[in-house]
Amino acid sequence: MSVHPYDQLTVEQLRHAGSRKWSEYPHALGAGLAEMDFGTAPGVVEAAQQTLTHGLTGYAPTWLVHDMQLATASWLDNRFSWSIDPQQVRPLNSIEAALEAAIMHFSPRHRRNAPLVLLTPAYMPYIAAASRFGRESIEVTMLRTDSGWEINWTALEQALSGGALLILVNPHNPIGKVYSRAELLRICDLVEATGSRVFVDEVHSPLVFDGASHLPYATVLPAAAAHSVTAVGATKAFNLSGLKCAQLILSNSADLDLWARVGQIPESCVANVGLAATTAAYSTGTGWLDGVVDYLDHSRMLLGELINRHLPHVGYQPPQGTYLGWLDVSQLNLDPDAARFFLAEAQVALINGSDCGSGGQGFVRLNFATPHPVLGGMIHRMGAAVDGCDNKDITDPEFAQ
Ligand SMILES: Cc1ncc(COP(=O)(O)O)c(C=O)c1O
Repeated sequence: MSVHPYDQLTVEQLRHAGSRKWSEYPHALGAGLAEMDFGTAPGVVEAAQQTLTHGLTGYAPTWLVHDMQLATASWLDNRFSWSIDPQQVRPLNSIEAALEAAIMHFSPRHRRNAPLVLLTPAYMPYIAAASRFGRESIEVTMLRTDSGWEINWTALEQALSGGALLILVNPHNPIGKVYSRAELLRICDLVEATGSRVFVDEVHSPLVFDGASHLPYATVLPAAAAHSVTAVGATKAFNLSGLKCAQLILSNSADLDLWARVGQIPESCVANVGLAATTAAYSTGTGWLDGVVDYLDHSRMLLGELINRHLPHVGYQPPQGTYLGWLDVSQLNLDPDAARFFLAEAQVALINGSDCGSGGQGFVRLNFATPHPVLGGMIHRMGAAVDGCDNKDITDPEFAQ
């Protein structure tokens, strides 16, 4: 049986390549930061190299921005049936820059300093986002059910009352939930009823597995397009965060008019290499991405098997999207910082659930976008640490390369 090329990547090779995930804890296996270990699509590498070969190291040429806008609009149409004018695609250097734009310019008009409402556990940097802008942050904790995670609708309604900026991350980092049409419609109703607005972060949308499908929030109803702004990017699916290009999608003419007055400086922070790489990813990377999603689909199931075998007291539901496993380690009594325990005792670097806000305590986030043998080694080590055993050999014998 042939071995998958990703399975042949070794820890030594990954560490030698020197990504942040593999260099920030030189003695640990990297499963914290959201980076993938599979490089990027060949067309992306070529496009990025071409920008340097052609000397495009000055300011972003209009045609390069234009190509990215066209490629993004086609991608959204082909992949998610979201049909937009390429001019609605605005270049920014990161998803965080899009959030900043939403806080500064696309909050409810009638309520100065409207609070930010977060569905937690949430992507870590978003927890502190409100305070950086002198805003209040209201955390609405997701409810856990046997079949997954549900919004606490009563708490959400209360949080939005009076008008707020809701941050909706779909697929939801760190819990891996992909919101259904019914849920998005219900959110839309609440937002309309309270005069709120929504910042939608759909950066993980290309990474959705069989059984779920991603629906852009702005497509569910005209009202949703009118009260939301959306951030997308090739950065997660094609591993391009260091190339500094994300897209803010404006879905109504009032927001486009406002942005025409205030968007020039944030738009000028986009990188040429990121623009070229994003265009290539969206227009030529689908085959590569399909392979990655297929591999990750196996990874999320493999993670379940490994947990059953080595960490039987840890809870885990395979995510519907993202490459992030959300592990319930509350039974192990490792709090307050389970991630620190696993770093010290298993040499596996994770994200502590508490960093994701309310509802995160007792969980750790594990990035499974890594070769299967390395994933096996991680869980094997974590199991050995929990058992108090010294056997922390990085390679699970059952996954020997
Ligand atoms: C939900 C979410 N939003 C935004 C980001 C950051 O994306 P970018 O690197 O494209 O700015 C991440 C990175 O992990 C993320 O998970």
